[in-house]
Amino acid sequence: MGNISILKPILLVFLLFLLHHISIANSTPRYMAVDNVPLNCGYAGNSTDMDNRLWIADMEPSKFAPIEEPNQKSITSKAQNQDSYVETVPYMTARLSYSQFTYVFPVTSGPKFVRLYFYADSYSGFDGSLAFFTVKANSKFTLLRNFSASILANYLGGSKRLSKEFCINVEEDQNLNLTFIPTPSTASSRFFAFVNGIEIVSMPTYLYYSSPEKPSPPYVGQNVQFSIDNYRALEMILRLNMGGSSISSKGDTGMFREWSPDVPYLLSGGVIPRQPDLTLKYSAIPNYTAPDDVYRSAITMGPNITWNLLSNLTWGLPVDPGFYYLVRLHFCEIEPSITMAGERPFIIYLDNKTAESTADVIMWSGGRDTPVFQDYVVLIQKMGVDEHKSTLFIALHPGKATNAIYDAILNGVEVFKLSDSNNNLAGPNPASTFLPSSPPAQQPASTSNSRKTRFIAIGTGVGLFLALLTLVCRLVVWKLRTSKRYGSYYPVSKCWFWSDQNKGKSTRTKTSSPPEELCRHFSLQEIKTATTTSMKD
Ligand SMILES: *[C@@H]1O[C@H](CO)[C@@H](O)[C@H](O)[C@H]1NC(C)=O
Ligand SMILES: *[C@@H]1O[C@H](CO)[C@@H](O)[C@H](O)[C@H]1NC(C)=O
Ligand SMILES: *[C@@H]1O[C@H](CO)[C@@H](O)[C@H](O)[C@H]1NC(C)=O
Ligand SMILES: *[C@@H]1O[C@H](CO)[C@@H](O)[C@H](O)[C@H]1NC(C)=O
Ligand SMILES: *[C@@H]1O[C@H](CO)[C@@H](O)[C@H](O)[C@H]1NC(C)=O
Ligand SMILES: *[C@@H]1O[C@H](CO)[C@@H](O)[C@H](O)[C@H]1NC(C)=O
Ligand SMILES: *[C@@H]1O[C@H](CO)[C@@H](O)[C@H](O)[C@H]1NC(C)=O
Repeated sequence: MGNISILKPILLVFLLFLLHHISIANSTPRYMAVDNVPLNCGYAGNSTDMDNRLWIADMEPSKFAPIEEPNQKSITSKAQNQDSYVETVPYMTARLSYSQFTYVFPVTSGPKFVRLYFYADSYSGFDGSLAFFTVKANSKFTLLRNFSASILANYLGGSKRLSKEFCINVEEDQNLNLTFIPTPSTASSRFFAFVNGIEIVSMPTYLYYSSPEKPSPPYVGQNVQFSIDNYRALEMILRLNMGGSSISSKGDTGMFREWSPDVPYLLSGGVIPRQPDLTLKYSAIPNYTAPDDVYRSAITMGPNITWNLLSNLTWGLPVDPGFYYLVRLHFCEIEPSITMAGERPFIIYLDNKTAESTADVIMWSGGRDTPVFQDYVVLIQKMGVDEHKSTLFIALHPGKATNAIYDAILNGVEVFKLSDSNNNLAGPNPASTFLPSSPPAQQPASTSNSRKTRFIAIGTGVGLFLALLTLVCRLVVWKLRTSKRYGSYYPVSKCWFWSDQNKGKSTRTKTSSPPEELCRHFSLQEIKTATTTSMKD
């Protein structure tokens, strides 16, 4: 009995999740990609993924079969440890080789997303700890160098499911070639290259690359602009939905981008305003820029003005030093009490430098419920402490004005690494005790970076928990809205409150409506009541 009552909410959350997915699947995307090639490597015949998307095979007679060195055939294999929590397509099969192999994609000209999918496991005859390889695009861009999927998976906290996303501009009459090159073997080890899935998807010409007709992003800290030109390649580092849950590739606007919750990276406390059913006005930016759900939630500082003026709303994002980064900040004013420019001015700091001294969402977008974004370029310099890993800080601080509420808001973030003057995007492998010469046993005992690993693992755990909680809250909202008793109690859906330093008892004096109406805690009892009563419906 006890077990069943615990299972009920979980089942319901899962059902709701499925329903959500189904409803997304039925709508037509806002952007139709001309080139859209999802390639399931190491597989023969068409396959479909969890979202019902068709993946093409890379095995003969597929026209996407790779070109290999003479007498150096690659092999295809299933992963040794089939994990039921990881999508079978494209992760559970791979192409592997001790020599280089090249995929050639005939595509139209223009910028493309290139996504690489890896499942860090061992395959028949291939020990996963010996996979070290370089990936080049069009013999020009180095996307990955001496890349080890198992070291990265270990560093990120254990999930073997890895993906990398790049943006590459393809010239007129060019193909898009991807070459996988194993790291040269040493006396003791023979290294190989592998890949589980590749995805090529077109994107709008000036989605991330700079348009000649618009001002280029400011180069933070320097009084100049920095144009993202076609000759550069980009690597997506993070794509975050502030105050929201993760959005799967199917929920994107047609470009199959994945969005994740920001909570693991939030270093300060915050308050989450949400408007789950808001109809957005796309008058400032194209409607394919980001999914609506990115703009329907945000993180703000909260109602305690005293606290806000003493602190920053801060995120810390892990980056490789020695590169330029494009930082895109997504905004949308969704709090009902803010109606005019000048009410929520704030300062934006990137990498501890002032990127914007008077940010104002309504001033930029022209109105409430109107999405807008701002791009910035920052150079993350190598510091003495750690040559290999660094943190990009995004910090917001309230600005001052007569009508100001002394708060800040952020709805979404995208961070891209820009290729350097050698056309390189690759950074070093994270520090690890997981060495290529170690015995085949797959259990690395991380000691040197265990604190970091634990931090990330906890962060991810919290993220997952919050994503689940969000779903539960949605369920509560749905329940409250559908039940007659709470039929008119709408404000509960606007946001849910989570406080750190604020302790939840504060009030925002400048807003007209009392905060209890706007935001409130859900008690466990409420969640339980809502979930159990809806089971009986
Ligand atoms: C795979 O799907 C494509 C596109 O729908 C189709 O043209 C092709 O014939 C299919 N191939 C196989 C082997 O079913
Ligand atoms: C792509 O590969 C094909 C075959 O190896 C080659 O003919 C072509 O020149 C390559 N294109 C680029 C842009 O590297
Ligand atoms: C997105 O914008 C395009 C062009 O402005 C428009 O034709 C299309 O109907 C819009 N789609 C949605 C779902 O609003
Ligand atoms: C906010 O962050 C900026 C940039 O790191 C820093 O200069 C400033 O002192 C911080 N303000 C507060 C109140 O912590
Ligand atoms: C930048 O700001 C962050 C967060 O406020 C702080 O932890 C870090 O020490 C600052 N770095 C420098 C170089 O001032
Ligand atoms: C490849 O990476 C491993 C692990 O980080 C390192 O030990 C090795 O020296 C690297 N090899 C090359 C050729 O860079
Ligand atoms: C607001 O924050 C300040 C500074 O942390 C704190 O002293 C004060 O008690 C808070 N006010 C309320 C109403 O919570």
